[in-house]
Amino acid sequence: MRHFLIAIDGPAGSGKSTVAKLVAERLGMNYLDTGAMYRAVALYLHSKNLSPSDDLSNELDHIDLCYKDGELYINGARVSEQIRSAQAGKLASDFAVNPAVRSRLTQLQRDICKDGKFVVEGRDIGTVVLPNAQVKIFLTASFDERVRRRLKELQEKGIHLTFEEIANQIRLRDEQDSKRSLAPMKPAEDALVIDTTGKNIDQVVEEICQIALRRMDCENNRC
Ligand code: DC
Repeated sequence: MRHFLIAIDGPAGSGKSTVAKLVAERLGMNYLDTGAMYRAVALYLHSKNLSPSDDLSNELDHIDLCYKDGELYINGARVSEQIRSAQAGKLASDFAVNPAVRSRLTQLQRDICKDGKFVVEGRDIGTVVLPNAQVKIFLTASFDERVRRRLKELQEKGIHLTFEEIANQIRLRDEQDSKRSLAPMKPAEDALVIDTTGKNIDQVVEEICQIALRRMDCENNRC
């Protein structure tokens, strides 16, 4: 089989990045992080003093966003590290409401995945970007667990915020991403919702790989 798509959507702190990367590795598939694309574009537009309510079509026509050897470049500048900041995450969520940003990135994501096997991670992959994906997963976890995971992740990077500070950031992000009118974050009707609260990463990866392998078998045997 030459073309196979796994969409993994879910909110901040649901574990989707870790899980999506490991699933791709286990199944020998490519991995696409669409949040990284929103982050890179948002940082770039912000650096040009543009805001999410501006008409951004013209500016977006002059943006060249691409992955090379696993690194993300925007107009030739490598931004893989810069985009990981909390500010980049907030800006990405802000600019993600802009119709021109969404349409440009949706098109680019579809182009990247048009051939080959991809695990694609985001908020609207199963609903809007790749509605024909063979496997659709929506990962969730309880609010407190998501905050605790983010707290631990930041502590490991030497960034010390309180539980309440992180809870506020995540609350705001959930609200913005799920209430926007265009491509809001939600499970596709045919997505399998997996609650990762209390589960370890290996269990979740195993569960998704088994689902994907069954589906691949099915496609191969035309069942
Ligand atoms: O997954 P992340 O935290 O890197 O995503 C950052 C923001 O980008 C997220 O809060 C909303 C936006 N985003 C989106 O609107 N659609 C996607 N497919 C991926 C991310």
